[in-house]
Amino acid sequence: MSDTQNSKDLISHLQWRYATKKMDPTRALPADKLERILEATRLAPTSSGLQPYEILVVNNKEIREKIKAIAWNQGQVTDASTLLVFAAWDNYTTERINTMFDLVNDVRGFTNEGWENYRKMLLDTYPQRSAEVNFQHAARQAYIGLSVALVAAAYEEVDSTPMEGFDPAALDEILGLKARGLRSVALLPVGYRDASGDWLVNLPKVRRARDAFISQVD
Ligand SMILES: Cc1cc2nc3c(=O)[nH]c(=O)nc-3n(C[C@H](O)[C@H](O)[C@H](O)COP(=O)(O)O)c2cc1C
Repeated sequence: MSDTQNSKDLISHLQWRYATKKMDPTRALPADKLERILEATRLAPTSSGLQPYEILVVNNKEIREKIKAIAWNQGQVTDASTLLVFAAWDNYTTERINTMFDLVNDVRGFTNEGWENYRKMLLDTYPQRSAEVNFQHAARQAYIGLSVALVAAAYEEVDSTPMEGFDPAALDEILGLKARGLRSVALLPVGYRDASGDWLVNLPKVRRARDAFISQVD
């Protein structure tokens, strides 16, 4: 397959995907597809490579019923094959920053002055800021992960629904996130559409025209 065909293939998958409103509760996602979606997300870039968020894979039906109740009763939360929860660090601490910088040194097998100076700059900046500012920064990284996850899902021909329609404080309580230093940011139910019960499936995708979205600076 040529590069052009590959690129077109990605666009056609992005046209195919949509924020699924009705998932088929009888169809399970094959484990290998879920694993590739998670791996693609693990490979997503983050600011300074800190990866300041985690993904919880929630299969438990009772827990998902509780989540649905605080997520505007959106049926995808329980009907999808599985539910991914994106939860960001509640703060940047010295320990968290050092853990990631040490990991880089471990994996690469050397230390580098420039990298160590960069570590110092972050240590002199991030932990001194308010937890809320740091959480908001971490949450933006989690959204990059959410985005990669839904593109990866589309590539695997798996349906998904990005969701902010839930009560984050209530979700943190249900999943015990506070004790883990995490705060929920977004949900991504993944599975297969139930086309017969989905009002959105056959409606055209709506995006602003290219000219209203992209401008050129030459
Ligand atoms: C961050 C984010 C949060 C969203 N929250 C919800 C949600 O709670 N429930 C829902 O049905 N759709 C939700 N959506 C879906 C958007 O409405 C949808 O992506 C947008 O209208 C574009 O349509 P498309 O994804 O079908 O192409 C969300 C999308 C994003 C990116």
